[in-house]
Amino acid sequence: RPILILNGPNLNLLGTRQPEIYGATTLDDIRQSCARTAARLGYAVDFRQSNDEGTLVTWVQEARTSAHALIVNAAAYTHTSVALLDALLACDRPVIEVHLSNIHRREAFRHHSYVSQAALGMICGFGAHGYVLALQAIAALDTPPAQ
Ligand code: DQA
Repeated sequence: RPILILNGPNLNLLGTRQPEIYGATTLDDIRQSCARTAARLGYAVDFRQSNDEGTLVTWVQEARTSAHALIVNAAAYTHTSVALLDALLACDRPVIEVHLSNIHRREAFRHHSYVSQAALGMICGFGAHGYVLALQAIAALDTPPAQ
């Protein structure tokens, strides 16, 4: 089963959207680096983006049976969506939260994340590399410690 990588609103604009905060990397660049990293680690990825909260909720619901784990950058819905949190809480799969920017270094309204309440952990502030770190975290969780 693939690792589902979910991207929320406005992340389709990466590369041109506030590059001083989010960098020049496009979402397609991130998709490609996720596919490369996942292949190296022995996983398939299903990489998606939506600007629509309900669509993201539906994808999380589907992940209950179809995904190995989830990597979620819910973008602005991180800070607003109880619906997305509830869907993630109902999904019995490991969730890793990712943000490109360091949300704790920004406006106060970005400091609270609903997604975090359903996540094993959160990676923020490392730009596109955060997705690679999240894939490595899932691989590490799946690998029993050496005796
Ligand atoms: C973001 C941070 C959010 O606060 C913001 O609304 C985004 C992107 C990030 O990846 O840094 O759209 O999730």
